[in-house]
Amino acid sequence: MLASTQGKATGLDAVYERVRHVIPSFEWPAFAPEIEAILRLKKERDAVILAHNYQTPEIFHGVADITGDSLALAREAMRVDAGVIVLAGVHFMAETAKLLNPTRTVLIPDLRAGCSLAESVTAADVRALKAKHPGVPVVTYVNTSAEVKAESDICCTSGNARRVVESLGVPRVIFIPDAHLARNVAAETGVEMIIWEGACEVHERFTARDIERIRFGHEGVTVVAHPECPRDVVQAADFAGSTADMVNFVRDRRPKKVALITECSMSDNVAVAFPEVEFVRPCNLCPHMKRITLGKIRHALETMTHEVTIDPAVSQRARRAIERMLEVR
Ligand code: 13P
Ligand code: SF4
Repeated sequence: MLASTQGKATGLDAVYERVRHVIPSFEWPAFAPEIEAILRLKKERDAVILAHNYQTPEIFHGVADITGDSLALAREAMRVDAGVIVLAGVHFMAETAKLLNPTRTVLIPDLRAGCSLAESVTAADVRALKAKHPGVPVVTYVNTSAEVKAESDICCTSGNARRVVESLGVPRVIFIPDAHLARNVAAETGVEMIIWEGACEVHERFTARDIERIRFGHEGVTVVAHPECPRDVVQAADFAGSTADMVNFVRDRRPKKVALITECSMSDNVAVAFPEVEFVRPCNLCPHMKRITLGKIRHALETMTHEVTIDPAVSQRARRAIERMLEVR
């Protein structure tokens, strides 16, 4: 179905009107029937779709009920009244939703949607670190399994890492598993970090040289980097923050030209809301986020798969670490 371009758009046409700058018209006929089916299935199943900012525009703008960064998705998951949550994102996000709203059925459309950070550390690794550094609090990035969270004192996201670390009021923390985020937070807070050498496979590939090239090729560009990037990339940027901070930065500052140093779909999704801003698009794809497609979301709702469950032996302790994070303002 092709969207009409004249008059007042309704239904699917209205969706296309919003995304036409980032989805070519020849792609839309493949997306429209999937979106229509998903919107119908959501009602039949009493489901809501939570989508991370790195989801593709046809998911983000076409079928998602709630969008945001990891922190926003966690907060919103807790408030969902519907019976079913479909998490259009990666596995740790679906686990977080289940931990915070355990009576809901939480579905992830592809069980293989993982994360290089979550895969880099196990619960046994955290127990070994605690044994080596007794009494030092463990701050764990949400990009981890429930088992790892259960061994932790408090979680954090890129949106609140500085505040979480400062809330502890200690000179030294164990910070797992993102070494780049740890170094960036250490520089901001002055708190000493015992670091786990994990990295995001998307953000670790950016270099300070990339930023130089962007500035050289795009005069006047504002550079905004995610704090999962290496320290020298963050230092070379004009601003660093979570994906939600990036959206807020563009909304509040309205730069003429901006480069978001992060995953590829981010610029597409933000560009829809700010058509007057020019987006320079140096980006790296997250293969895990890209496992989620409209077809898989539709299949998840048709078959009610893949349901996310958490071992009761870990869920209470993992939930506590996330709740402690949410208490930090
Ligand atoms: P935020 O959206 O919380 O900034 O996280 C980025 C990310 O890489 C999530 O996997
Ligand atoms: Fe993990 Fe990086 Fe992909 Fe986010 S972008 S899911 S941190 S690999």
